[in-house]
Amino acid sequence: MAKLKAAVLISGRGSNMTALVNACKGRSFPATVALVISNEPSAAGLVSAEAAGIATAVIEHRRYPDRESFEQILTQTLTEHGIELVCLAGFMRILTPSFVEAWRDRLINIHPSLLPAFKGLNTHARALEAGARITGCSVHFVRPEMDDGPVIVQAAVPILADDDEETLAARVLEMEHRCYPLALRLIAEGRVRIIGNRVFVEGGAPSTAVLMNPSDGN
Ligand code: GRF
Repeated sequence: MAKLKAAVLISGRGSNMTALVNACKGRSFPATVALVISNEPSAAGLVSAEAAGIATAVIEHRRYPDRESFEQILTQTLTEHGIELVCLAGFMRILTPSFVEAWRDRLINIHPSLLPAFKGLNTHARALEAGARITGCSVHFVRPEMDDGPVIVQAAVPILADDDEETLAARVLEMEHRCYPLALRLIAEGRVRIIGNRVFVEGGAPSTAVLMNPSDGN
């Protein structure tokens, strides 16, 4: 069967993009990263993508007078490459509702919190400050509101007493690198259905393990 052609949009480091690229190297993996686009020419992720032999494009938002004209080139580039699914991975531009609607259910994002908690930036600092004991990451379909949309995969990460923003971010990032390839695989296998704001995974074995922090010892 033909593999699903995905594009990954980045603005910086690109570690989630690399996790997706590595997953796609598996012969039986049902998707391929056909293109990496950055809006920042200096994004470190571009170098990793090129080293991995992935086609890259830089679409520098500053060169366009408004969001619409930037997104027009974005759409054109995605279309030219036959992209079927767009994965946002640390892409630091807000997309207009018309772009989001045009890619409805074909546009996903990874966010470093357990949505709908801690939408927006500085999630780890805010989770620590709020005294949460568990945080995590979410892969979700994108909707016009920021960090909104049906959640496909989440992972919970306990907040430890000696955590600071950096240590917490590092542990959440490890889970991001597992969640994003899983979400891509489920979508590419055609197992994901969206009903309202909920995602149902055909044949998905839900984990019944409960993560309690602190544990009650049972
Ligand atoms: C990740 O924490 C992701 O959840 C957030 O931005 C960060 C991007 O990191 N949206 P990277 O560029 O994938 O390394």
